[in-house]
Amino acid sequence: MDIFLDSTDLAEIRTLAETGLIDGVTTNPTLAAQQKRPFKELIQEICLLVDGPISAEVIAEDAEGMIKQGHELARLHDNVVVKIPMTLEGLKACRILSDDEIMTNVTLVFSATQALLAAKAGATFVSPFIGRIDDQGWNGMDLIRDIKHVFSNYLFDTSVLAASIRHPQHVLEAAKAGADVCTIPPKVFHQLYRHTLTDIGLKSFMDDWNKSGLTL
Ligand code: E4P
Repeated sequence: MDIFLDSTDLAEIRTLAETGLIDGVTTNPTLAAQQKRPFKELIQEICLLVDGPISAEVIAEDAEGMIKQGHELARLHDNVVVKIPMTLEGLKACRILSDDEIMTNVTLVFSATQALLAAKAGATFVSPFIGRIDDQGWNGMDLIRDIKHVFSNYLFDTSVLAASIRHPQHVLEAAKAGADVCTIPPKVFHQLYRHTLTDIGLKSFMDDWNKSGLTL
């Protein structure tokens, strides 16, 4: 499973990219608004930090506007993926941008039928929002399984990108469900490798070593 960071925080992206474990980045208008700088400049900076797909979302709501903005965003860097909302206009734009060989990510997906249409429109990625489904009292991970099932029936190339990830259990469940990508907020990434027993074990190893007088 590829791991993307769901963030516009350049310091966090830089730090975590140094692990060599980050395969891409997703952004959205809310995350972009947290940074007080021009959006296109922000996306270009992220492209310099991570060598992988970088999702940048269009703001237009009509297909013509989305296509125009999609071309502008795609010109920023070869790795830019144009993120398009899951609407009828978005599907039209996705079809045209995909035919123009521009990578696309259809976002705000909450059902397998939406994902099916996005795949038929040629989307490179489809983003089901797991956490927001859980927030409504349903099981977001069932949607990942349903989409994987539908896509495997028809050999679609579209990658299933598990989004709206809230905690490490989501990451584990996404991997078990066969999500192609999981996009993770930095806070959740840090929770993935930390464990109290690791800290306790390491401290006791170091204490014993330091008491022994041994040198390496
Ligand atoms: C995905 O690309 C979105 O940016 C993101 O995962 C949304 O998550 P949220 O529900 O935590 O806002």
